[in-house]
Amino acid sequence: MANRVRVGVIGLGSVSEKYVPHVRRLNIEGTSCEIVIACDVRPGLAERAREWEIPAFTTDYHEVLGRADVDVVLILTGMQTHGPLTRDALNSGKHVLVEKPMSMDLAEAAELVALAKVSKGHLVCAPHVTLSRTYQDMWRHIHAGDIGRPLTARGFYGWAGPDWDPFFYEPGGGPMYDLGVYNVTTLTGLLGPCKRVMAMTGIAIPERIVNNQKMQVQTDDNFQLLMDFGNQCFAVVTTGFTIQQYDVPGIEVYGTEGTINMLSDDWDPRGYKLWRNKDGFWQDHTSRAKWNWTDGVRDIIQAVQEGRKPVNSPEHAYHVLEVMVKSMESGRTGQALPIVSTFTPPRFDSAADRVAPHLDHAPE
Ligand SMILES: NC(=O)c1ccc[n+]([C@@H]2O[C@H](COP(=O)([O-])OP(=O)(O)OC[C@H]3O[C@@H](n4cnc5c(N)ncnc54)[C@H](O)[C@@H]3O)[C@@H](O)[C@H]2O)c1
Repeated sequence: MANRVRVGVIGLGSVSEKYVPHVRRLNIEGTSCEIVIACDVRPGLAERAREWEIPAFTTDYHEVLGRADVDVVLILTGMQTHGPLTRDALNSGKHVLVEKPMSMDLAEAAELVALAKVSKGHLVCAPHVTLSRTYQDMWRHIHAGDIGRPLTARGFYGWAGPDWDPFFYEPGGGPMYDLGVYNVTTLTGLLGPCKRVMAMTGIAIPERIVNNQKMQVQTDDNFQLLMDFGNQCFAVVTTGFTIQQYDVPGIEVYGTEGTINMLSDDWDPRGYKLWRNKDGFWQDHTSRAKWNWTDGVRDIIQAVQEGRKPVNSPEHAYHVLEVMVKSMESGRTGQALPIVSTFTPPRFDSAADRVAPHLDHAPE
């Protein structure tokens, strides 16, 4: 079928269980696409590919990149492999979606951003938080001046920590890259580029059981990050593999005329609450509609079909990476560090024209 987008998946671990069904559902809902090959270094996962009726499986990602019938490559491997795989995929002329972060290294990430500018393929970097209706509604309220001038903000995301792959606790892993990345993406999307960071970070739980084996934690697992957006606007991001449960909004923005809160986490938003001084009450926009955090795959596939750019830019992902890398550096040195990169956040002026159709929340 003309305009059918063919997808190759590299990495058949935990997140593929969300991305693969999403691609299949897109196709059922009328966005013509299919997964033609999957890859994982673990040969046993060929069985998973068979269960998902993916017609080909390989343990060598070069095979995916070498296939002429692959348009879009999803890189769903552990964080430490993202940079080299993304470079190879862009150099092969593919459109690329990479899970977060795009790279562990700022110099490598800068190369990827430059490469994406000249390569045939688009580069979409997770997280895809700006694609949710809740985010876009909040963006519109903030930019319409409904809370006045934003002065203060908070992002929150943590849990007890993964127990299925050691990479989360190795250098380049950790909750800032795994979890805080969502908050930093949301806050910079809503408030614009960050100018300066300062953080307290540390290893709070030095030993973990992962895959039934004891391991020493080699990267910080506990973060309080301060972000300076200029013009006396400051935010704090709290993240850690140190948090058993919590009951606070994922994102809060406080302005001179009001407050806006995202209900639940920014990877799984359930609407928002808006306080305007002129109203004197909370407007409750709680939503039961589900947004899928894998939604970037819809955007990249539809961008290819429609001949447009994806909504999110690699420059935004680079900026977020600089904030995260410098948060770790600041944690080590105790210094406030300037953020030198910048980007233009996507605009959402007209009502919800770039969001996925809503799905009812499945029972958890
Ligand atoms: N697990 C989650 O809930 C979650 C949610 C959102 C994003 N993410 C991100 O997604 C990425 C993957 O996380 P995960 O939890 O699925 O990890 P995972 O360990 O479950 O899966 C990663 C898979 O990639 C494979 N792999 C590693 N190197 C490879 C290579 N060179 N070629 C082919 N396959 C390779 C591994 O064998 C493994 O099966 C991470 O960047 C993570 O931050 C995870």
